[in-house]
Amino acid sequence: MVYNRLKLYKTPPKTVIIGASGFLGSAFLFTYRNIHPDCVGTARKLDGYNIFYVDLLSPNIAPLKLTEKGHKEALILAAIPKIERCEKEKELTRKVNVDGTLELIKQLVSEGIKPIFFSSDYVFDGEKGNYEDDALTNPITEYGRQKAEVEARIKDIAKDNYLVVRLGKVFSLKKGDNSLLDEMASILASGGIVKAAFNQIFSPMLISDVINAVAYLQAKGTTKIINVCSPEVWLRYDLALEMAKAMGIESKQIQRISLDEIASEAKRPKNTSMIPKRLLSEKQITFTSISKCIKIIAKNYRDI
Ligand SMILES: NC(=O)c1ccc[n+]([C@@H]2O[C@H](COP(=O)([O-])OP(=O)(O)OC[C@H]3O[C@@H](n4cnc5c(N)ncnc54)[C@H](OP(=O)(O)O)[C@@H]3O)[C@@H](O)[C@H]2O)c1
Repeated sequence: MVYNRLKLYKTPPKTVIIGASGFLGSAFLFTYRNIHPDCVGTARKLDGYNIFYVDLLSPNIAPLKLTEKGHKEALILAAIPKIERCEKEKELTRKVNVDGTLELIKQLVSEGIKPIFFSSDYVFDGEKGNYEDDALTNPITEYGRQKAEVEARIKDIAKDNYLVVRLGKVFSLKKGDNSLLDEMASILASGGIVKAAFNQIFSPMLISDVINAVAYLQAKGTTKIINVCSPEVWLRYDLALEMAKAMGIESKQIQRISLDEIASEAKRPKNTSMIPKRLLSEKQITFTSISKCIKIIAKNYRDI
């Protein structure tokens, strides 16, 4: 497993991981269990030690006995994060991503547990980019609207004791997990064409950097809304070109497209780059360079 060597800058308090079966949730659970081996995780389709069933369609956290077991905070990583699905199934996804999430937050707060909600750069309209932590939200997708609504309403429930972690695109170095860079490398390695938009601009971040930053913010008691992303801003097209170069593959395998050409129910925001101003003020936080990550992932596919 990629995460077991992760040395955290600071130790987070005992934390329940809501959505422990997902891409981010499973990585957080793995790392946090190195510190608190009995911390609780929740999932719908996963069994295991101290994993409890919680469905956001009708959340009930009483059986988890979180306070009794010493939990102080909760990472809310359960959601339906698929942009197309949110557009097509507005009612159902809203029940999970907004109503159920707010109900879960209420239950956590009434048990004295600080909620940490994971939001997205899709709360912005993508017109200007370089959004700071306190920039005004103006989502143009249903997914973004659902995230923005929880961002806005969490304070009514939790008063000042909450944290919103606003992520850009998160990726890992693990071969075959189909996250952002792995997917590009895998297509290129098999001789396929990577379609990459020249006008899709965002702030990616390596998953281990996300975990380290969040653990640090938890240990420091940070509240309110914070952008958690790398200070590097990338075009999807440039990422693909750099991956091809690192793999020694000709750039003709990269098809330069416009985001407008992608057939989609939802018009996607173009420039969702964020400035992690609050995070950058924490001098201990470090960011792995994206070019270095590209080289590592390229090597995953060169050494087969
Ligand atoms: N990954 C990124 O790049 C990124 C970027 C920005 C924001 N985020 C946000 O970060 C969070 C985690 O993202 P991720 O990439 O880890 O997503 P993911 O891999 O799709 O995981 C989503 C989790 O939500 C759970 N879930 C789905 N429907 C549920 C329901 N009705 N009740 C309870 N749990 C449910 C899933 O578990 P089961 O289906 O097993 O129950 C799974 O554990 C999401 O809120 C996402 O919007 C992620």
